[in-house]
Amino acid sequence: MPASPSGAAAGPGEGPFRVGLLGHGTVGAAFATLLAERADEIERFNGRRPVLGGVLTRSRGDFEEILADADLIVEVMGGIDPARDYLMRAIRAGKDIVSANKQLLSQYGEELFEAAREKGVRLRFEAAVAGVVPVVRVLEESLSATPIERIHGIVNGTTNYVLTEMSKGLSYADALAEAQRIGYAEADPSDDVSGRDAAAKMAILARLAFGSPVHLNDVRYEGIEQLQSDDLEYARELGLGLKLVGTAERIDGGVSVHVLPTLLYGGHPLASVSGPFNAVTVESQTITEITMSGPGAGGRQTASAVLGDVVSVMTGGARPPAPPLELPLITDVRSAFYVHLEMEDRPGVLAAVTKILGDNDVSIRSVVQRGIGEGSRLVMVTHRVLESSLRKALAEVARLESVRARPRTIRVIEEEFV
Ligand SMILES: NC(=O)c1ccc[n+]([C@@H]2O[C@H](COP(=O)([O-])OP(=O)(O)OC[C@H]3O[C@@H](n4cnc5c(N)ncnc54)[C@H](OP(=O)(O)O)[C@@H]3O)[C@@H](O)[C@H]2O)c1
Repeated sequence: MPASPSGAAAGPGEGPFRVGLLGHGTVGAAFATLLAERADEIERFNGRRPVLGGVLTRSRGDFEEILADADLIVEVMGGIDPARDYLMRAIRAGKDIVSANKQLLSQYGEELFEAAREKGVRLRFEAAVAGVVPVVRVLEESLSATPIERIHGIVNGTTNYVLTEMSKGLSYADALAEAQRIGYAEADPSDDVSGRDAAAKMAILARLAFGSPVHLNDVRYEGIEQLQSDDLEYARELGLGLKLVGTAERIDGGVSVHVLPTLLYGGHPLASVSGPFNAVTVESQTITEITMSGPGAGGRQTASAVLGDVVSVMTGGARPPAPPLELPLITDVRSAFYVHLEMEDRPGVLAAVTKILGDNDVSIRSVVQRGIGEGSRLVMVTHRVLESSLRKALAEVARLESVRARPRTIRVIEEEFV
């Protein structure tokens, strides 16, 4: 049964399934096209035909009319306001929601989840995390009975592309300019290169994996702007490749979430993820490790994840969000590190450095020494150490007379999968 002349939506389970679309940009326009292309097939297997109801942009459509007409609201506007207000109003009106908005979910997710739970409304957001890589669904459904210990993710395609180009010898500035030229980076890439975009996605993943609310502000993040080309060269000599990796892990009854430039050994599942791709590795003793990878962005790709969520709601596969489980946030975590020291090569310097490191429980896994005299470099990889112990040791090292610059560090993921 089509919508009544008054504009009211058909009742549950009757007639076309009307989708109200907030936003008609890169993703919204691709979604509208894909919906029309796939409507026959979706109707064939689930009995109802999805159709586009109203569309809202800055210059077109009326939110109240779209809401009244819709069975479900798709939000692909982005930003916090007015998306937050529209979604809260839609939830209060009892409409199911599909959103691709990572910034909104990582800052106001709990408010939306609580409202959705109260109203028994489904809220799906596969496209908010790693584009078309179905990690949200896998965490919520396939792995819902698995105690997850850790998630590592390359969840920002722009930075992964830039780092891939830098590993071929391009400078950061040239690699970023190339990414902008071919459309992998926006004119203002600051959310991507600062790590903030990846931090928002990791906050959402941590909530899914551990049940604990994690706000974007709880995620420590560093981007790729400060990386130096020679760090990549030394890392290569040590058998390591550089990625921007988000980590969400359970530690000592708490949760730690961070996004950092990270060095990986060649056998790690994320080491081979190059170009604008995304990948997420989920670790648990029960399943050992699984990795999912695929395109992290793009209008049609993202629209496909959004439409998958719509179909999931239509077929009753989704349920309202689970209540939160409050876990403490842990910020001082154990990791291996790459350490780059620029120093004067004088007798006794190496011994002084290794003594300070040893006194602070920092043990060395491998070392590369280059150059002589004033500009010599000592580059090493430590074994796992509490980050606060390493920082304390390096503060002491920096005070040595022969050390010429502030020590540089990059996190290293030690695991070597074979
Ligand atoms: N692009 C991707 O590859 C990708 C991938 C994953 C997730 N996402 C997420 O998907 C969402 C949409 O991204 P996009 O790239 O499609 O953005 P976009 O191209 O900038 O499109 C945004 C759309 O929302 C509309 N809009 C924005 N503010 C509005 C307001 N205040 N009132 C009414 N309409 C408003 C815009 O209207 P006008 O047309 O009038 O300007 C435009 O149609 C974002 O949350 C983004 O993070 C995007």
